[in-house]
Amino acid sequence: MSERTLVLIKPDAVRRGLVGEIIGRFERKGLVIDALALRSMDGELADAHYADHVTKAFYPPLKDFMTSGPLIAAIISGDEAIAVVRTLVGATDGRAAAAGTIRGDLSLSNRENLVHASDSPESSAREIALWFPEF
Ligand code: TYD
Repeated sequence: MSERTLVLIKPDAVRRGLVGEIIGRFERKGLVIDALALRSMDGELADAHYADHVTKAFYPPLKDFMTSGPLIAAIISGDEAIAVVRTLVGATDGRAAAAGTIRGDLSLSNRENLVHASDSPESSAREIALWFPEF
């Protein structure tokens, strides 16, 4: 079943010049880019995007990181895109993520882990409405 998912290519990826590498992996898999924009996250958008995490101890440094520079926001679609993108991205902690995944190949961090991807149809709908209200 074709799905849409919200992807953020985080400020560490932009700073490290990895945007093309990461988008290329999604494209080579056969996924389709429906929307793509250079954006940034202010504190208000961070609190809304990470509503499930705002009370957690790791949230203040995560918010500082996510608001530290430009990022890429994208809508990506394809068959079972939500799960497929999560598989390509890999586990949260780059040190533990499997080789072959974006985080496993390119990140050594539990915070600066290059990519956000929606984890369910509900979060995908919520996050697409937040980042691309025109969709
Ligand atoms: P989470 O939704 O658990 O991970 P994922 O991005 O793999 O869906 O957490 C959201 C982000 O919060 C995660 O990408 C990086 C950050 N984070 C930390 O900085 N420290 C932590 O201990 C965890 C669990 C997450």
